[in-house]
Amino acid sequence: PIPMESVPGNDRHETRCIRFQEIDWQAPLELAEVKEKGDVGEVVLKMDKLKKYYQVAANAMFGGGNTKVVKANESLSFEAHESETLAIVGESGCGKSTFAKVLMGLETATEGHIYLDGKDIGGVAIDDRTTKNVADVQMVFQNPFDTLNPSMTVGRQIIRALEIFRIGKNEKERKQRMLELLDLVKLPREFATRMPRQLSGGQKQRVGIARAFAGDARIVVADEPVSALDVSVQAAVTDLLMEIQREQKTTLLFISHDLSIVRYLSDRVMVMYLGHVVELGDTDQVFSPPYHPYTEALLSAVPIADTKVKKKHIVLEGDVPSAMNPPPGCPFQTRCRWKSQVPGDLCEREVPPMVTMADGHQIKCHLSAQQFAEMEPVIEVGTAAG
Ligand SMILES: Nc1ncnc2c1ncn2[C@@H]1O[C@H](COP(=O)(O)OP(=O)(O)OP(=O)(O)O)[C@@H](O)[C@H]1O
Ligand code: SF4
Ligand SMILES: [Mg+2]
Repeated sequence: PIPMESVPGNDRHETRCIRFQEIDWQAPLELAEVKEKGDVGEVVLKMDKLKKYYQVAANAMFGGGNTKVVKANESLSFEAHESETLAIVGESGCGKSTFAKVLMGLETATEGHIYLDGKDIGGVAIDDRTTKNVADVQMVFQNPFDTLNPSMTVGRQIIRALEIFRIGKNEKERKQRMLELLDLVKLPREFATRMPRQLSGGQKQRVGIARAFAGDARIVVADEPVSALDVSVQAAVTDLLMEIQREQKTTLLFISHDLSIVRYLSDRVMVMYLGHVVELGDTDQVFSPPYHPYTEALLSAVPIADTKVKKKHIVLEGDVPSAMNPPPGCPFQTRCRWKSQVPGDLCEREVPPMVTMADGHQIKCHLSAQQFAEMEPVIEVGTAAG
């Protein structure tokens, strides 16, 4: 047995490790083995000026007659390719889940188009989609606790998905495929007979992932797939998702609040604010200047443990404005620290155009090319001395 030992310098700090004095705490972390990334392929998904407005009663509580409009998505345009991981980031309420729901067919678009392999599915609800279209776009939900049927065994739930996607000629083939899917998500085959309540959160999310990939999906939308899980299993579940995505060349749309995970796993990043795409680019482009002023503020809020890293501290004043009553002009103008640098009241009057910087990097802002060129990095890795 290892005894508890006092850590010098703090009389209330003890540790049960006999080697804690020998460990080099400054040594760089070793990265786990990363699977080779497949080449990014052709365009699988194209969103073209997608709009989603919800009508709500102006005074829902008291049954008021007038209706108000929630502008959850304003004119989203982007493409996603085969084998690509596109991360979607932005504050709560900016419309991330809304576009995922429209893509899945759980809601239909108010305006605009969604092309899946060239075919427009934006206005087609899930019940009217072909089996192949339904199988092609799958989702891993935030909370594995309420997406599994509590009265069905794990094996049965996966077989049910295979039946819906018409995979396998008979029950025997489907059972075999179900066992292979358990292997794929690294769950023991014995789990097929377990009920969801006999699984931990991380294990349930693995079942959710097995179901999403059961029908050879072209696109998997993962909406905050690990945020409901314990920190200790978040990395394992994220890595699993990435590994399967790479193997199957799936297009992964990864919705997340966590910019450190996003930086680690995504090829491209889309930043959303109040229903708008405000920045879109390769991960390296989005994480280094020039930034959209909103991205700059998001990056300054990423916690970094390394003391050699210097970070600008940019405080975002106030909350996101309501999607029912968005400000005129630029959606970010009520919180932007750069607004005063734009001549006149342009930011308050006009929605900025999407400006293309180098190599497809896009930013929706009125700042000039020179102002963008002079932007300083938010995060800087200092030298050992500095
Ligand atoms: N069915 C609905 N009816 C009316 N308004 C809705 C509906 N669903 C979402 N909204 C509104 O649309 C906006 C965008 O919501 P959405 O769920 O897409 O945000 P989100 O970016 O996923 O946020 P979070 O990070 O908190 O999950 C919000 O203002 C929300 O209140
Ligand atoms: S357009 Fe104006 S308010 Fe909007 S992000 Fe750019 S500088 Fe800020
Ligand atoms: Mg959401």
